[in-house]
Amino acid sequence: MKQIWQSDRVHEIKRVNARFLGIGAAIPDKVVTNLDLESMVDTSDEWIRSRTGITERRVVSDDSSTSDLGTEACLAAISSAGIDPEEIDLIIACTSSPDMIFPSTACMIQGKLGIPSCAAFDVMAVCTGFIYALSVADAMIRTDRYRKVLVVGADAFSKLIDWTDRNTCILFGDGAGAAVLEPSDDGGGILNSYLKADGSGWDQLYVPAGGTAMPASADTVQNKMHSVRMRGAEVFKFAVRAIPEACTEVLRGTGHSLDDVDFIIPHQANQRIITSAAKKLRFPIEKMPSNLDRFGNTSTASIPILLDEMWRSGALQSGQLLITVGFGSGLTWGANLIRWNGPKFVGGDIN
Ligand code: ACO
Repeated sequence: MKQIWQSDRVHEIKRVNARFLGIGAAIPDKVVTNLDLESMVDTSDEWIRSRTGITERRVVSDDSSTSDLGTEACLAAISSAGIDPEEIDLIIACTSSPDMIFPSTACMIQGKLGIPSCAAFDVMAVCTGFIYALSVADAMIRTDRYRKVLVVGADAFSKLIDWTDRNTCILFGDGAGAAVLEPSDDGGGILNSYLKADGSGWDQLYVPAGGTAMPASADTVQNKMHSVRMRGAEVFKFAVRAIPEACTEVLRGTGHSLDDVDFIIPHQANQRIITSAAKKLRFPIEKMPSNLDRFGNTSTASIPILLDEMWRSGALQSGQLLITVGFGSGLTWGANLIRWNGPKFVGGDIN
């Protein structure tokens, strides 16, 4: 192994991937169905299901926040890892709907978990957050300074949505998913990551006010500038390009091809996006799972929630090759290539 730095502690480049040691999710109890939405905006169950694949979504209670959901998912992941919370030495949170502008949601979660003094920070890549966060966690584990890294994607979009805007309120739901990562000793785990961004497309999906560009004021509140703005058709076209690109690029140079891949686990935004991407890739749609119908788009949480469901149902088997792939505001997109060597499922239900 090559030495790259000589100091009081000799540091080496580690060729050690991060593997999943534990996984968990948190889904709020309250269900909002398409029929409920029919009484709130000019829409129909038929329109929503045929254009998006969504039937219902979950929303948090008024007194609950993103970090509450994130904490619950982290506790489930820590429990499935079979470790004590104190063993966590780094928390990386990703969210599009933080509790506050600052401090980070990772710090809020750390405080709620009661883990003293481990490092904690947020990665902001909106719906691509979990893909970015897995890649950062993998890199941090390779430094050999962090051995138990908690990665959590949590979002409460219900609090960012204008519930009178039918273009956006039908799409999103709340939830959280988390994973504990540790160094892998068998060459499996996260084999590669591909991360991309194009900031020129920032205005395709954004929340205008509440930051320094447009601080909160009576006007911003009155004009609903604290809610999500989206050019849906543009985002749709971008997503259908981004997923095939990221899946193809994350395989490049790895010696693997799409034929070797057991599952592509896509960000859950719209069933038509998933189907179009599968067609473009000529990849069997049965190997691109979806839970959109029940949860809608839970942003950074959609991929870990789906991973958690697949793990608990026994669909994930040791040795399988997986691609997790996401896209979102920024614009951002990316993928991780994973040789699954995660924990063995020993029972228990998700919510
Ligand atoms: N109910 C009924 N009619 C509607 C609704 C609704 N909820 N929303 C829009 N319509 C109408 C439109 O007004 C339009 O009517 P018109 O033809 O009379 O003008 C018609 O339906 C078609 O509208 P489109 O916007 O062309 O519908 P489209 O088929 O593109 O579907 C959708 C819209 C579902 C938003 C789609 O574009 C989409 O899913 N885009 C991607 C969005 C996305 O994934 N965002 C999240 C990205 S991840 C992240 O970072 C958070």
